[in-house]
Amino acid sequence: MDLLDCPPTITLPHNRFSAPIQKISHQEKISGALLNNRYVIQKVIGRGGIGLTYLALDSHRFNDVCVIKEFSPVFQETEQFNKLRDLFIREAKILYQLEHPQIPKFYACFETEERLFLVQEYIQGKSYSQLFQEKLKQGQTFSESEIIVWLRNVLPILEHIHQRGIVHRDISPDNIMESETGKLPILIDFGVGQQLNFSTQEIRDNSINQSHTPTLVGKIGYAPWEQLALGKCFPSSDLYSLGVTAIVLLTGKQPAELIDYSLEWQWRHHTKVSDAFAQIIEQFIAYNPQQRYQSAQEALTALNSLNMTSAKPIYFKSYFSQKQKIEKTKLFNSLGTSDTITAKFIKYCQEEYKFGLF
Ligand SMILES: Nc1ncnc2c1ncn2[C@@H]1O[C@H](COP(=O)(O)OP(=O)(O)O)[C@@H](O)[C@H]1O
Ligand SMILES: [Mg+2]
Repeated sequence: MDLLDCPPTITLPHNRFSAPIQKISHQEKISGALLNNRYVIQKVIGRGGIGLTYLALDSHRFNDVCVIKEFSPVFQETEQFNKLRDLFIREAKILYQLEHPQIPKFYACFETEERLFLVQEYIQGKSYSQLFQEKLKQGQTFSESEIIVWLRNVLPILEHIHQRGIVHRDISPDNIMESETGKLPILIDFGVGQQLNFSTQEIRDNSINQSHTPTLVGKIGYAPWEQLALGKCFPSSDLYSLGVTAIVLLTGKQPAELIDYSLEWQWRHHTKVSDAFAQIIEQFIAYNPQQRYQSAQEALTALNSLNMTSAKPIYFKSYFSQKQKIEKTKLFNSLGTSDTITAKFIKYCQEEYKFGLF
């Protein structure tokens, strides 16, 4: 059954897809297996929190290569499991709605033998984390001009999805590929993408609901505090993650190496970029969502005007006062070391929000 023949109401019985952990290793050995009487699995190409990703051949499309994601989460607890299954179905729905040359095409979503699958276009190319590692091995990082071109090519994808009310929520070098054919960036992995659930008034007032329970979304370091602490996302949350991705590609450092204990980004001394460009990046990664660009188009306009800007020096001042920085560092250190970094970071963001330290 093609689940997305009737997209708005996909209801699946709870816990039917209780893929036991052992099943995963079995699945890895299924190269050559026929799925749904149509897809011939070639190999596993990814394994995330929600499931496995396979390279496959579509026998109904002249053995065209395609990508199949299978819902088989590591978490088996009912609540977590159901949440993840919803994220999986959400990815299918999002891809189904979106049509953009830099987003993999949605082909099908189906269940067979009590397993749930999503089929999408195969992108021939490498992820930016692969490209980044390759550069690092040669002792290089991405240059300012490369990142400017790259941002100019990525921002229209974000504008496209945001205009359709979708926030990706998981932008990182892993989830952006470079197509071998067009050399254009392609945005993948809409597994945690979310339909916007805020009003314009809410952004203007910054009246974010504190009782909102965060879901398992985004990557530590790439996701902004409002996403991690409150589970709230705006278009500017994706722009934040894109800005972090840009500084990672520019500096060759991971986010954890670039952020200080008051959670301020310290990236400039790791790379040589013009002040005008650095100022644009700073606006991507501003702490407060209201201080960031409010749309991808706004960021694009700023980037496009770069050449026209006279190269007058810009004074960079710290976003936080010295007193705020001391208090923030004190708070961070007071949280102890028993938690994982992820848990500590989320707790920190929540505490900070409570005490109004930003
Ligand atoms: N459409 C695609 N074309 C080619 N490779 C893909 C595609 N989608 C995913 N991949 C590869 O599979 C990996 C995992 O897929 P992804 O959708 O990011 O899921 P997750 O991060 O949840 O495992 C990606 O990092 C990428 O290397
Ligand atoms: Mg991914």
